[in-house]
Amino acid sequence: TNTVITIPVVFHVLYKNPNQNISDAQIQSQLDVLNRDYRKLNTDFSAVVPSVFQGISADMEIVFCKATKTPSGATTTGIVRKSIASSVSFGDSYYLAAGDPAWDPTKYLNVWVGILNGDYNGILGWAYLPDQAGQAWDGFVCDYRYFGTTGTATAPFNLGRTCTHEIGHYLGLDHPWGEDDSLCGSASNDDGVADTPATNGPYFECPTFPSNEFACTATPNGSIFMNYMDYVNDACMAMFTNGQKALVQNTMSGPRASLLT
Ligand code: ARG
Ligand code: ZN
Ligand code: CA
Repeated sequence: TNTVITIPVVFHVLYKNPNQNISDAQIQSQLDVLNRDYRKLNTDFSAVVPSVFQGISADMEIVFCKATKTPSGATTTGIVRKSIASSVSFGDSYYLAAGDPAWDPTKYLNVWVGILNGDYNGILGWAYLPDQAGQAWDGFVCDYRYFGTTGTATAPFNLGRTCTHEIGHYLGLDHPWGEDDSLCGSASNDDGVADTPATNGPYFECPTFPSNEFACTATPNGSIFMNYMDYVNDACMAMFTNGQKALVQNTMSGPRASLLT
C-alpha cells in the first residue's frame, strides 16, 4: 500500500530589494531538497551518515508540492510575492501584518521567505510546533540567505537544510537535547524519540564520527549529530531516524491531519 503523503505548500516571498525577491528557480531548489530529504533520496546520505546509523535512518514518506489552488479555488503557482518595508525579528508578526497573511493553515503549509534581523545570532528561521496548528502565524519563516541551493543561498547554510530542520519542528520533532540544553537526565532533556541518543546541547559545524562530546551517555557510536534536527552545517546533516518518523506520523494523523484532506 502507498503510505506516502503529500503536503501542499504556499511560499510567501517578502522582499525589500530585488535581490531578496528570490527566483522561482531558487524556490524550486528548496522544494527539491525537501523532496529528497523526506524520501531518503538525498545523494549525500551514504557519505554523511555512518553505516552504523544507516539502518535506523528513515524514509519519512512525505512529499511537498507547491499549492495549485488558492483557498478560494483559483489557479495559483503556489508563490506569492510582496514588497515590504522592514526586516522581520525572531517571533514577531510583521511577516503577517505588513507581509502576507497565511493561507488557511489547516490546509496549507505556509512558508514565508523574508529578511531576518541580524541581531539574533544563529537564527536562520523558525517554525511553529503542531500545538500551534491552524493559528494565524502557523508555518515556517526563513531568511532569504538560508533558503534553497541557488541564488542568494549562503554557505554553510546553502543546501536547503534549514527548511528540512524547521519543517521537522512543524511536524512535531524536537532537537535531540529536548527543551533542556544542559541538564542530562532531566524530564525536559528528551525529544520523545527513543532512537536519537540524548545530548546536552547542539553539535555545530562538522564533527568527526564518532563523537560523545555532548552525549548524555557515552556509547561506541556516539551522538547522531548528523541528524537533520541537530545544528551542524547543511553539508553535515543527512538523516531522520525511524523513531522520528513514528512521531511525525502521529502528528500527521493528529494535529496536522487536516493538511491531507
Ligand atoms: N538554529 C535553527 C533552529 O534552531 C536551525 C538550524 C538549522 N541548521 C542548518 N544546518 N541549516 O531551529
Ligand atoms: Zn531547531
Ligand atoms: Ca532521544
